[in-house]
Amino acid sequence: MENNSIFIEQLNTKQVDKVVDIENSSFKTPWPKQIFLAEIEKGKSFCRIALQEDIVAGYCISNLIFDELHIFKVAVHENHRRKGIAKYLLEDAFYFYKEKGAKNAILEVRVSNESAINLYKKIGFEALRVRKNYYQTTKEDALVMFINLDDYFQKFLSTT
Ligand SMILES: CC(C)(COP(=O)(O)OP(=O)(O)OC[C@H]1O[C@@H](n2cnc3c(N)ncnc32)[C@H](O)[C@@H]1OP(=O)(O)O)[C@@H](O)C(=O)NCCC(=O)NCCS
Repeated sequence: MENNSIFIEQLNTKQVDKVVDIENSSFKTPWPKQIFLAEIEKGKSFCRIALQEDIVAGYCISNLIFDELHIFKVAVHENHRRKGIAKYLLEDAFYFYKEKGAKNAILEVRVSNESAINLYKKIGFEALRVRKNYYQTTKEDALVMFINLDDYFQKFLSTT
């Protein structure tokens, strides 16, 4: 996919170090490199990167569980934020998994993560429930958010 000089493509092992750099500067309990490599090797998750002028600016890892698209990770390098890259990465996963039968997309987000919650709300995600003490190291609660993909695409088509 391509949008205003942002390209989205499959993550491969050569780009993993760049993704790990973004991961380490974006999350309190980052995934180690081995998890990203295992996700690529297993080939079951949709592992995508956003490139801006050939630089890895962000990534998204997602998977289909029954008819639900689970967003495991989305992050954007701090120098590339507020350019629509995360929104674009999420839409890319929506397109890919809608074709494969996904009905909803679902994710967990720290209740303190205002920027991510704003992003998800802007796309149309709604809060479903709170999972108490979901994050083991910090004991923080998670907000579970979901979006119905038919609703998303109907809204999307009516505004384009
Ligand atoms: C959350 C994150 C992925 C957003 O990435 P991004 O590429 O900057 O997001 P986008 O540019 O696509 O933002 C789309 C909309 O989300 C909302 N948003 C994004 N970042 C925001 C912020 N810091 N404050 C308020 N609203 C924000 C805005 O509505 C924005 O639209 P606008 O720029 O037109 O106002 C990024 O800040 C990040 O990597 N954070 C650290 C990792 C993380 O928390 N990931 C989510 C884990 S659940």
